[in-house]
Amino acid sequence: MTQYDITIDGQKVSFTEGQTIMDAALAAGIYIPHLCHHPEFAPHGSCRVCTVTVNGRNTTACNTRAMPDQVVLNNTKELEATRRAIVQMLFVEGNHLCPGCEKTGNCQLQAIGYYVGMLTPHYTHFYPIRAVDASHPDVAIDFNRCILCELCVRASRDADHKNVFALSGRGLKTHLIVNSPTGKLADTNFAVTDKAAQVCPVGAILHKRQAFVIPIGERLYDRQPINLVGDLAQSNPQGATTHG
Ligand code: FES
Repeated sequence: MTQYDITIDGQKVSFTEGQTIMDAALAAGIYIPHLCHHPEFAPHGSCRVCTVTVNGRNTTACNTRAMPDQVVLNNTKELEATRRAIVQMLFVEGNHLCPGCEKTGNCQLQAIGYYVGMLTPHYTHFYPIRAVDASHPDVAIDFNRCILCELCVRASRDADHKNVFALSGRGLKTHLIVNSPTGKLADTNFAVTDKAAQVCPVGAILHKRQAFVIPIGERLYDRQPINLVGDLAQSNPQGATTHG
């Protein structure tokens, strides 16, 4: 297969036709922050955290094709500020109260917040009020923490072939729903072993009876920053079963 090159922060990075900038970067061991990206699923491009500068213009790395001789900037103060603002907006749109969340230390949103130097939410909190679905025997959903990345939607559809989840509504009213007559997870064929139960990057899909199997302080991102260890679901496929 023909190899081409781009540069990322001055480093030559090879790619093959069809790869995105994110694909090429991750294959070269270069971390570009991301939440809605997962290498097993088609790019989604919704969280915008992977914003990079390509030939002088900002775009998202996960759904931008790598093209020969692109000059990509990833680690700049300007991009850190842009990503920080995006992460701050994600925080205030939901109820991400890290000290009280059982996903703390294993949450990609929290870890990226640290990575981009987020010290305050900066924006006004929405404080949405969304019902928690604890109907399923093994999995609970806290919709207050959903960031609409659609990873569970894509995993349930494309890997589990169950279509348990979907997004409904438009604009600010967009929200995650469960595809069942009652809207409850218990009334689906969802299983804790489903791929969709492993991919949530935040504390929205939680495994019951597993909340403190790994104590706070000893979790993945408690020990190392996310740029060194990557995604929980990929670095430790069972990691998601340590919450709930
Ligand atoms: Fe690229 Fe979410 S990771 S937009």
